[in-house]
Amino acid sequence: MTHIDTTFLSRCFGLDGRTAVVTGAGSGLGRQAAKALAAAGAEVALLGRRKPPLKETEELIRHQGGRARSFSVDVTDRDALGQTLDAIQRDMPPLWVLVNNAGVGGRAPLLDVSAEQIDQILGVNTKAALLAAAAFAQRLLAGQLQGRIVNICSLAAQTHPVGLAVYGASKAALEHLTRSMAREWISHGINVNAINPGYIETDINRAMFRSPAGQKAVESLPRQRLGTPEALDGALLLLSSPASAFITGSTITVDDGQRFSGS
Ligand SMILES: NC(=O)c1ccc[n+]([C@@H]2O[C@H](COP(=O)([O-])OP(=O)(O)OC[C@H]3O[C@@H](n4cnc5c(N)ncnc54)[C@H](OP(=O)(O)O)[C@@H]3O)[C@@H](O)[C@H]2O)c1
Repeated sequence: MTHIDTTFLSRCFGLDGRTAVVTGAGSGLGRQAAKALAAAGAEVALLGRRKPPLKETEELIRHQGGRARSFSVDVTDRDALGQTLDAIQRDMPPLWVLVNNAGVGGRAPLLDVSAEQIDQILGVNTKAALLAAAAFAQRLLAGQLQGRIVNICSLAAQTHPVGLAVYGASKAALEHLTRSMAREWISHGINVNAINPGYIETDINRAMFRSPAGQKAVESLPRQRLGTPEALDGALLLLSSPASAFITGSTITVDDGQRFSGS
């Protein structure tokens, strides 16, 4: 007879009594990350600019028996983000994990890209992610808490899709910073890792993938399919949980082998 040791599983992956902060939690990968972390027992702080989608995520989590609270904030506003983290610390269980997921896309050939577009993509995907990680780490340090930071980067950090060069650069920079954060905060018990997702259908790319060119792109993938947000659950729960105590400065690519396209 098979015996499943549930106490072993909850020691490895359980997040009871801990707060998970997820940026961009009102949609796509962030919403699913918040649901997965809540299912593992965390109380989840849902961050994003638009209130209604955050409230919807909150409702979905309540419906599955979990706990979550919404905080409307623009992650590029450093002061507002700091105040939000202070409020989370005041009203929720001890901070444990930050999932740096808020991000923006943007297609532009390098000959046409505008200075504003570069500022926007790097501003959200790289600068705000770094400042959020540092603000989170400062609070862990001040509270003598250990914790985890998971930076959602992209397969585009490793590949060079035409039209996505600035986006890819913003994520490659965040992946590089992930290793630097891991190194600088290693003696404080803060583990910092990255996930590089492949193509997963969400608001960021839905219109593109439903266009004829997008359909053609899907057909060129090794398994001719896109991912769903749930595809990241395994990697996310590993990197957010006590089970990843010995993993820091690493990247997990979750792409269904999409990086082998054309090879
Ligand atoms: N889907 C994919 O194929 C894929 C692949 C690789 C990597 N990624 C990355 O995964 C992350 C999530 O993307 P997604 O696919 O789930 O797309 P999405 O549904 O468009 O999610 C992006 C989220 O970021 C939030 N956000 C954007 N700017 C923000 C700001 N200044 N302040 C606060 N929140 C902000 C948005 O909420 P508000 O607009 O309400 O603020 C939204 O909830 C992104 O970092 C993306 O680059 C996605």
